[in-house]
Amino acid sequence: MSWWWLGSIGSALHRIENGDIPSKFQNVALIVGVTGISGNSLADILQLPTTPGGRWKVYGVARRPRPQWQFHHNHVQYIQCDMADPEDSEAKLSHISDVTHIFYVGWVTKSSEAESCVENGRMLRNVLNAVIPNAPNLQHICLQTGQKYALPSQDSLSEIQHEPQFVEEFPREGNPNCYYTMEDILFEEVQKKENLTWSVHRPAVMFGFSPYSTRNIVGSLCVYATICKHEGQPLRFPGIQTAWDGHSEAADADLVAEQQIWSAVELQGKRQAFNCSNGDKFYWKDLWKVLADEFDVEFVEFEESSICLEEMMRDKDPVWDQIVQEKELLPTKLEEVGTWWYVDSILRHEAESDTNISRSMDKSVEYGFGGSRDTAESFRFWIDHTRRYKIVP
Ligand SMILES: NC(=O)c1ccc[n+]([C@@H]2O[C@H](COP(=O)([O-])OP(=O)(O)OC[C@H]3O[C@@H](n4cnc5c(N)ncnc54)[C@H](OP(=O)(O)O)[C@@H]3O)[C@@H](O)[C@H]2O)c1
Repeated sequence: MSWWWLGSIGSALHRIENGDIPSKFQNVALIVGVTGISGNSLADILQLPTTPGGRWKVYGVARRPRPQWQFHHNHVQYIQCDMADPEDSEAKLSHISDVTHIFYVGWVTKSSEAESCVENGRMLRNVLNAVIPNAPNLQHICLQTGQKYALPSQDSLSEIQHEPQFVEEFPREGNPNCYYTMEDILFEEVQKKENLTWSVHRPAVMFGFSPYSTRNIVGSLCVYATICKHEGQPLRFPGIQTAWDGHSEAADADLVAEQQIWSAVELQGKRQAFNCSNGDKFYWKDLWKVLADEFDVEFVEFEESSICLEEMMRDKDPVWDQIVQEKELLPTKLEEVGTWWYVDSILRHEAESDTNISRSMDKSVEYGFGGSRDTAESFRFWIDHTRRYKIVP
């Protein structure tokens, strides 16, 4: 936990002891993509009375109805809206005129980068068009993108000799990249209101919780381990040797939320882009032992295999339905809780270029946010969370 956060919580606790929690809302957050892995952590933290900038009034937007596993977010006013549709966005979002801060963590996965640019760009623009002209007290917009912003092409990677450090000011590559599209839309839209500030947050692979996420590596691995246990199979690593042996980096979803809230309320965090990662390095071969241990499945050392997780899980829908019923879990479909393509992309495709790379947190620390996490602890924490919400036994 960062000294900034601890300091803020410390001063907030002092206020509680003096019976001094503000009875009125100080700020009003609009979390766009509240049911996602990032949105869930933002909602958890923003609804706490001690969160810096608070008390926060919180609105949360997503396309599907409010899920059962988010009913504890009783301080979040849920707005069901399809932000890909400009009319629905205008109808549902233009009347919330008290918003002071937008936390944009919406995302939709498309089959090509070009389609992703169009659709994610459209959603962001629809939200900003509906809110900016109608929220007179709007002060700040946090936009979350990701560290693929800085991933150089294969050509430039081959020129990098040892452990490249990726910094925020890394030049853009020539290829289409949805994060460039979204950041450009943000820069264009903030011009439309005087003194409206922004920040961009670019996390590494996130460890967090959301059965609705399009990319949830911890949740997917919990489901995979549960299926292995049910079928009496050992826990085979579905990735490549580089992912198993090389060092990797992750970002705890709560840490990413803390960095965004810091940017929203602290002057130094504004008009800047920040990397976000836990600040340590981990090895999948170590976390694999943790996963096997947590689900009481046989751990096996790395074995080369051409079969990816998506293929391994192809016909497992009925198996998952049976497990859900037998173990009295929250009803979910395998296609929702197992984002296999994402696990494959991290442990197979991106591992070639993405392992042994360091994302520098120096800028974040220098500007005042020094938060960090122990990745092994974070992995255990989110496994436990996934179990507590009865997504896995
Ligand atoms: N997950 C990771 O490991 C990771 C790592 C690095 C960077 N990032 C980046 O972080 C950002 C946030 O990603 P995330 O992983 O947190 O996303 P996510 O878990 O997939 O959540 C996406 C959210 O957007 C909502 N949404 C999608 N389409 C919508 C629509 N048409 N109308 C209303 N709501 C809609 C979803 O609600 P519904 O389900 O109701 O549609 C959900 O709440 C993205 O830029 C992503 O690339 C993610």
